[in-house]
Amino acid sequence: MIYLDHSATTPLDERVLEAMLPWLRDNFGNASSIYQSGRAARLAIEDARAEVAQLIGAHPAEVIFTSGGTESNNAVIHSCAMESGLVDHIAYSAIEHHAVIHPAQAMQRLGIDVSEIRVGTDGRVVLEDLATYNRARQLVCVMHINNETGTVQPLADIRASIPDALLHTDAVQSFGKVPVHLSNLGVDFATISGHKINGPKGVGALFIRKGIDFKAHQQGGGQERNRRAGTEPVALIVGLQHAARYAVQEMVQNVRSMQQLIDRLEAGLRAHVPLIHVNTPVEGRAPHILNVSFEDAADLDGEAILQMLDMRGVAVSNGSACVSGSLQASHVLLALGRDKAEAKAAIRCSVGKGTTEQEIDQAIAIITDVIRRLRVTTHN
Ligand SMILES: Cc1ncc(COP(=O)(O)O)c(C=O)c1O
Repeated sequence: MIYLDHSATTPLDERVLEAMLPWLRDNFGNASSIYQSGRAARLAIEDARAEVAQLIGAHPAEVIFTSGGTESNNAVIHSCAMESGLVDHIAYSAIEHHAVIHPAQAMQRLGIDVSEIRVGTDGRVVLEDLATYNRARQLVCVMHINNETGTVQPLADIRASIPDALLHTDAVQSFGKVPVHLSNLGVDFATISGHKINGPKGVGALFIRKGIDFKAHQQGGGQERNRRAGTEPVALIVGLQHAARYAVQEMVQNVRSMQQLIDRLEAGLRAHVPLIHVNTPVEGRAPHILNVSFEDAADLDGEAILQMLDMRGVAVSNGSACVSGSLQASHVLLALGRDKAEAKAAIRCSVGKGTTEQEIDQAIAIITDVIRRLRVTTHN
């Protein structure tokens, strides 16, 4: 299989697995227990917290561990609007992941005011619109890198235009791809996920700026200094620590190779597939994502493209949710101004550190052939 879906998930790094194994096999203590095995687990968690904090430019007290990106995003929105009562209005960019949009909409049903922030055709938020949300008791959610198009948001400009609001960024796709130094970026909350950086699934981190009175959205024991209840999964947290370490230590060479592969893929598809439209912006793009749609998309079946590519051994996705067996148009591409057909028939290719030039060349040939065949079929 030619795996070009690293934005969906990445393979576990062998070194990360090795680091996790002792905590799965032998060291099973509960980090809240006072005897030796519990203390060992506690030490491992605090060591992980210190290292992850250092890697994202934060203080250890500003980091809590969660079950992943979805929970971190939910935690911020629920806690700010409900448990901590910090905000009475939530604004999110139109291209956020559903793990932001859906909890915000849930808060709306409970009476919190919610707004959607417009994006331009390049996918970046319109800064003038954003400035209207600059006030206290306001939470603004703008993701760092979009998971479908690879658009990078100018977080420093965003922060500068809303100095009085609380700012959350979903950094799930950006950590390990661009420098993420949260103190410099000036955000109040940031979300990270383990399985997007060659770590394990089911673990993530949430950055909560010091001084914010953040109350747990999930109640129970007093773990994570009362900010997230539940027995800590030590092996997963150690896995996240190691994945984060390699993501940062090896970022320069990983990004260089991903960028070359994405450039090669884009050039190949532009050269061989007629009527192609690149949805990834020219400037301010992530190194690992390329999203393309087709100008004659109305004649192409989005589902058929993915199925035929799968049959030919190429794993890509299109960012569109598959609801009850049928493809829904991607809300991200619709927000960028694409029409419904284009937003359904797009392909998102995302490379990882293991992807090779040979795989890219094979993928170009297969995608070219599949689109040609589908066009022949629909025009006959
Ligand atoms: C931008 C973004 N946010 C959040 C998530 C959800 O993360 P997780 O799978 O760790 O819950 C994803 C994963 O698809 C993502 O790409």
